[in-house]
Amino acid sequence: MNESPNPTASVTDARPVLAVSGLRVRYRTEEETIPAVRDVSLDLFPGEVLAVVGESGSGKSSVAHAILGLLPANAKLEAGTVSFRGRSLLDMPRNQLQQVRGEEIAMIFQDAQSALTPTLRVGEQLAELFESHRGASEDDARKAAVDVLKGLLADPLRVADAYPFQLSGGMAQRVMIGMATALDPSVIIADEPTANLDPAVRHETLSTLEGLRDQEDVSVLLITHDFGVVARLADRVAVMYAGEIVETADVRSIFRWPRHPYTFGLLQSLPDMHRPGRMATMPGHAPDLATLPPECPFLPRCNKATSQCRTEPAPRLMPVEGSDGEHMVACYNPIAVSLRGD
Ligand SMILES: Nc1ncnc2c1ncn2[C@@H]1O[C@H](COP(=O)(O)OP(=O)(O)OP(=O)(O)O)[C@@H](O)[C@H]1O
Ligand code: SF4
Ligand SMILES: [Mg+2]
Repeated sequence: MNESPNPTASVTDARPVLAVSGLRVRYRTEEETIPAVRDVSLDLFPGEVLAVVGESGSGKSSVAHAILGLLPANAKLEAGTVSFRGRSLLDMPRNQLQQVRGEEIAMIFQDAQSALTPTLRVGEQLAELFESHRGASEDDARKAAVDVLKGLLADPLRVADAYPFQLSGGMAQRVMIGMATALDPSVIIADEPTANLDPAVRHETLSTLEGLRDQEDVSVLLITHDFGVVARLADRVAVMYAGEIVETADVRSIFRWPRHPYTFGLLQSLPDMHRPGRMATMPGHAPDLATLPPECPFLPRCNKATSQCRTEPAPRLMPVEGSDGEHMVACYNPIAVSLRGD
């Protein structure tokens, strides 16, 4: 199945809580098939935040959905394994997977408003979690639901009685974080948790996520466009391009010594890492996944390309020299200077 080394494996002795290997996802539409995830492997270790970054369409959400068995009907999981504490999630019966989802692994979805059930009051949705997963009585579940909201919002009783459409974007986001963390999961997959939030709400959401990060027993797979969020929360970073991980390293190495020309370009074009906003843009366009050539998918945008890049198949992830395998890059001619030029 997966022949490539696991790019996000740490050299620590800890066993990953979540191990993804050789994941391949393809979408079928009337016109074409889109290989959205192409041999992605990653390990998430206990207590760490692993950020997955990349431009729109690079396959980040598809990886998250595949891990939790939430791919849409037109998607095909072609290959790969997902192991959670040694149990295979992809082979798990549906009812067991539902139990794991929410209780042990929770997801904060990219669009909080539409991920909440529109016809149920917020308090009912939260209470349902305690009733179905913990066997709580109706009264106890309601109390537990309000307790969750108390930690996140100024007016928990009013929010509990509201329908999702009555919430602002920021309130919905916090409700979603409350739902994801209500049952104390050990893994949280957060898909763009700060996207489209105004600066004040973004700041509050980041503080909430920082609180989660500081809990030793919680691991977070953080999907984001926002390098300010990466700098503030992540321990390690995996950079995705065209459905693949092209670079991975600890957060300091990524910011200081990015080796892939794509990572380097993204960081170089950042206006200000600490300002809220979407990812920096760089010249050129992401490739059309349906018609990917065999060469490096970054070739048309790359100013480091050599003849090897034009004649050989796309490079595979390899350890950066001297990094003990903690820093991996898929590039024939990686950047050799630091981002500051030294
Ligand atoms: N249901 C679908 N049907 C067909 N193609 C899809 C579907 N969902 C995603 N895709 C395609 O798969 C590719 C990866 O999409 P995905 O949503 O995983 O990217 P992403 O990195 O999460 O992007 P964004 O940052 O915009 O959320 C894109 O080319 C997208 O158009
Ligand atoms: S392999 Fe070549 S084309 Fe691809 S990113 Fe590296 S230098 Fe650029
Ligand atoms: Mg996405």
